[in-house]
Amino acid sequence: MQEQISALRSELKAAIDAAADLTALEDIRVAALGKKGSVSALMKGLGGMSADERKEMGPALNSLKNDVTDALAARKENLEDAALEARLVSERVDVTLPVREHVSGNIHPNSQVMDEIAEIFARLGFDVAEGPDLESDFHNFSALNIPELHPARQMQDTFYLRPDENGERKVLRTHTSPVQIRTMLSKEPPIRIIAPGRTYRSDWDATHTPMFHQVEGLVIDRDTHLGHLKGTLEAFLKAFFEVDHVTLRLRPSYFPFTEPSMEVDVQCAFTDTGVKIGDGNDWLEILGSGMVHPNVLRACNLDPNEYQGFAFGCGIDRLAMLKYGMNDLRSFFDSDLRWLKHYGFAALDLPTIAGGLSK
Ligand code: DAH
Repeated sequence: MQEQISALRSELKAAIDAAADLTALEDIRVAALGKKGSVSALMKGLGGMSADERKEMGPALNSLKNDVTDALAARKENLEDAALEARLVSERVDVTLPVREHVSGNIHPNSQVMDEIAEIFARLGFDVAEGPDLESDFHNFSALNIPELHPARQMQDTFYLRPDENGERKVLRTHTSPVQIRTMLSKEPPIRIIAPGRTYRSDWDATHTPMFHQVEGLVIDRDTHLGHLKGTLEAFLKAFFEVDHVTLRLRPSYFPFTEPSMEVDVQCAFTDTGVKIGDGNDWLEILGSGMVHPNVLRACNLDPNEYQGFAFGCGIDRLAMLKYGMNDLRSFFDSDLRWLKHYGFAALDLPTIAGGLSK
């Protein structure tokens, strides 16, 4: 019996070591330790033995069973390691390879222009702030000095949501100006932010789509004045249009959230191939701006006797159209791959001031 046991032990160990994969190993386990397995059959024999025989054979069979179990576990670990190793080799990625030359997919002109704007303002020390597309009436209107029933509410073709349980109607933000409010309520001056993002108005023609993009700018400090506004805008427009000089015209205007308010035109020439920014006999309206209204500061718990600042708001899609010569805003949102291939930007070329914004 002892001999039989040691023969079985060697036989099983050899088979286990030779098992080529996990399935073969499982077959061996069943053939040895399964209900009808060879080891199990010997164990069953214990019942018919005398007490003395059992005393001798019991431990011997137990140790056989343990040895086989251990050998199976060790081989299983080996095979699993080898399988993992093989998978790692087959799925290996060489991260040092150069990027594929023909990357598919293009950056939308809108995203490109937003990256360009963020890059320019980052150089001027501005952070990028964000706010939600679904806004409260307070942030989109009241805090911006546009009280209920004020005629200025009619200036914007607002999309309203159904009233909630408190009767409050949220709006799809009609401009990025509510981000001014959110920033002033959450940060201490000095504040220097831009807030690019989606905005919504019920409007649809060649230069208006119900969803469009704006960028807001806000600077609040103790002694910020109109000269800072003009200098900032000049620096921005020069960098954005990649020209050495721009001439601005500040036209008095009205926005409820600024006093004084002005619209900013940039000198340009309309040519057959598009607009040339820099010189010429024409003026192009680019953005709205002004000194932040004292009521707006108060709504944000800032003391207008202590703090002042400027703000501006500008249509991003319009800037993209001007800079890259597109004339129908609606095609921005058609998802036409031919259009995107033509007007889009290479996926991996991030705009930098040093490397050229648009290459
Ligand atoms: N929110 C204005 C609009 O959508 C744009 C604007 C004008 C923003 C003047 C400003 C500003 O911050 O000072 O028409």
